Amino acid sequence: DKGEFRHYMMKEIYEQPKVISACLEGRISETKVLTSCFGADSGFLKEVENIHIVACGTSYHAGMVAKYWIEDLAGIPCSVEVASEYRYRKVAVPKKTLFLTLSQSGETADTLAALRMAKEQGYLTTLAICNVPSSTLVRESALTLLTNAGPEIGVASTKAFTTQLTALLITSVAIAVENGLSAEKEKELVQAMRSLPAYVNDALLQDAHIKAVADRFANKNNALFLGRGTMFPIALEGSLKLKEISYIHAEAYPAGELKHGPLALVDEDMPIIALVPHNDMLDKLKSNLQEVAARGGELYVFADKDTDLHNEENIIFTEVPKVDSILEPIVHTIPLQLLSYHVAVVKGTDVDQPRNLAKSVTVE
Ligand code: M6R
Repeated sequence: DKGEFRHYMMKEIYEQPKVISACLEGRISETKVLTSCFGADSGFLKEVENIHIVACGTSYHAGMVAKYWIEDLAGIPCSVEVASEYRYRKVAVPKKTLFLTLSQSGETADTLAALRMAKEQGYLTTLAICNVPSSTLVRESALTLLTNAGPEIGVASTKAFTTQLTALLITSVAIAVENGLSAEKEKELVQAMRSLPAYVNDALLQDAHIKAVADRFANKNNALFLGRGTMFPIALEGSLKLKEISYIHAEAYPAGELKHGPLALVDEDMPIIALVPHNDMLDKLKSNLQEVAARGGELYVFADKDTDLHNEENIIFTEVPKVDSILEPIVHTIPLQLLSYHVAVVKGTDVDQPRNLAKSVTVE
């Protein structure tokens, strides 16, 4: 039932504050991550020395964000790979490596095949972060952390992604605690997590503004998404969402790569979508934006107001709530979901069931 919404995708976008709360529920206290959420076998948190994350599509993008978190907070090496590559190559597995899969459905053929292969490779253990409790992935993994997003009907993944990120944040902090993260820092991160549903709600308040931005954007044939740090995987996710449901060709790059090639694409017909959180990379990103503006590119900037960016001749500004940097990738996802949704509606595509795609890719 779509309720008051025209499409499942929009209903699912609006469910995010609620399902993120459901994902956090019982897994954090006022000050701590509760390791009991990993079940009786949470001993792996102490032992793990390496992490391999394997997933497809949007779930892979969630894994890419987690790599930044895990290496930053826990200081443990983490690699992320798409399942369709992982499953067909010889992988070197360092000792005490955790094999972590991410999947909304738990039925993605390549991800399941990767898990089955991994089980023969001497990993420390296998953990699935998954949305479907009765899925094959959950059944076949040693450990599970459910995302609790509820059924996702729209082919374009929205709430499944932000709850995967939430579950990954819980996991990253739990591993970090065993690797020297101070109680004070843990408390700070947990408090940030507790405010996440409210921030996601604030981000949704830009809906009407983003709809107006989408009207201006919908006639474009191409788009280039830019971000640095955790905003790079969010740029990838934003570009996947746009191509999936609006059929506009989109690419995403780490902003620092502009000069190494994609800048050649920039002219007045190439809109740039820039994700600009207020962190220590801000000045670098601003100079990337100037390079684009100097070539006539139209800039769609998503940033908080402390960045001092605003509407200008070539800048279409959308405000994103100012949050603790750990939450930025989750909060910045919301306006990009809304942008692709509204662009797709303007273009009249089948939003919930885009051409050529299936919700669950159970064949190779
Ligand atoms: O069910 P999974 O998370 O394993 O699915 C993986 C991808 O097929 C999925 O994320 C796909 O990329 C979505 N349609 C993206 O919106």
